[in-house]
Amino acid sequence: MQKVIVLDFGGQYNQLIARRVRECNVYCEVKPCTTPLSLLRSESPIGIIFTGGPNSVYDPASPQVDPAIFELGIPILGICYGCQLLAHHLGGKVTAGTEDTAREYGKTETYFNTDCKLFKGLPREGVTWMSHGDYMEKVPVGFSLVAHSDACPTVAICDEKRSFYGVQFHPEVNHTQHGCDMIRNFLYEVCGAMGEWTMGDYRDTAIRQIREKVGDGKVLLALSGGVDSSVAAALVAEAVGNQLTCVFVDHGLMRLNEGDEVEAAFKKWDVNFVRANAEALFLGKLAGVTEPERKRKIIGEEFIRVFEAEAKKIGMVDYLVQGTIYPDVIESGLGTSATIKSHHNVGGLPDYVDFKEIIEPLRMLFKDEVRSLGRELGLPEYLVMRQPFPGPGLAIRVIGEITKEKLDTLRLADFIFRDEVAKAHLEHSMNQYFAVLTNMRSVGVMGDGRTYDYILALRSVTTTDFMTADWTRIPYDVLDRVSTRIVNEVPHINRIVYDITSKPPATIEWE
Ligand code: XMP
Repeated sequence: MQKVIVLDFGGQYNQLIARRVRECNVYCEVKPCTTPLSLLRSESPIGIIFTGGPNSVYDPASPQVDPAIFELGIPILGICYGCQLLAHHLGGKVTAGTEDTAREYGKTETYFNTDCKLFKGLPREGVTWMSHGDYMEKVPVGFSLVAHSDACPTVAICDEKRSFYGVQFHPEVNHTQHGCDMIRNFLYEVCGAMGEWTMGDYRDTAIRQIREKVGDGKVLLALSGGVDSSVAAALVAEAVGNQLTCVFVDHGLMRLNEGDEVEAAFKKWDVNFVRANAEALFLGKLAGVTEPERKRKIIGEEFIRVFEAEAKKIGMVDYLVQGTIYPDVIESGLGTSATIKSHHNVGGLPDYVDFKEIIEPLRMLFKDEVRSLGRELGLPEYLVMRQPFPGPGLAIRVIGEITKEKLDTLRLADFIFRDEVAKAHLEHSMNQYFAVLTNMRSVGVMGDGRTYDYILALRSVTTTDFMTADWTRIPYDVLDRVSTRIVNEVPHINRIVYDITSKPPATIEWE
């Protein structure tokens, strides 16, 4: 399979570049800029993309490349810092820009020479997204200038003989008009891409590889009902059928009907599906617990115990499947940061279970690719498009003490919220939305009588990475319908509030 390598120089858009390449049906991987040349050569990429980065090429500590990379005969596209690096190494001159000499930030009108392959078939003028302090004062020998802006004469350069291209702007971000077409041109016009990367092909190859690896061995998977573990399960189910056992720990903290939906989705495969109904156990352990971190710890530990007990019944397994996805792989290289909340995932299982090897069939896929793979495998849309749901489930959305009654109240209210969002066709503009049952009661009036019932909060965020998030501007009439229905249909709620805090300073979940 043809491959492009994205060499990461620390730019904030490294993953986005890789996704854009894959959206053009070309497989690509992100590698650190320190990757040895021998390794790069052995992978025979059809093209290399240098990402942007926060440094200046003249800073002695700035990340560099082995200059021999320019002798490999492989097309290179340098973006922002990557472009400056290209110019710097090939004999050009990069200098610190000033207001007048081309330090640029934000949307910038740019003029292109469409004879250059990178801009072939595109308008001669358009907006690009700039974010650079340095600029190319002198272009290297053999290169032509193929784009400029009002402030900067050297916005893009190319040496078509050697297939080297550099752009000061970021074609990968949406603000750059036709940015994706430029990346597509690099792949198809310059690198000779054939567009082999499709989810149908990925599915077939992955199934073949899983079969070869597993042989007649036993496979175990912890199914959480989330998108990643569901798609991983479907893929392995398709590959090895009843050699797979899916253990679904139902902690009783799922949303309305969620456990049944997950179970129903896997009926079509001949897999061993174990649903460990552990609601009573979890609620027992959580009784009287109000502190969020304690709730998380209890749920994390119990989850592992239940899973372990089920795994023991199955006996020694050969393979454990995990739903690790590509952003986790890329990000695992980054440093540590402060613990805001101790996240509970099924990811921490291997220490506790007897198995020989791990299979991570989604390891090279981005989230949107995982979803399209799920569709290829015939998973229902509600599972494939499921919004993120925290491992501790509704336990961290019932503020304070958790009881079965409170959970049922929240489940119903949350369902109504999701139902109205779906009816208003807003689900794709809201990345995560849910209800939170506060532990505060207030006075209301219903019919002719006084009520003293719980306050329910609605939360919805718009985000790409869930690290930062903005609260969603839901239309008032939708909020109104949700509020009216909840107070009428759900007992013990008499007041609804909408959370209008972004992250930071708030987090997405309330606990
Ligand atoms: P916060 O509340 O930290 O949430 O802004 C960020 C995203 O992570 C999800 N989340 C979790 N996911 N286990 C998970 O698998 C957890 O313990 C957990 N806690 C929060 C949250 O729903 C949001 O998408």
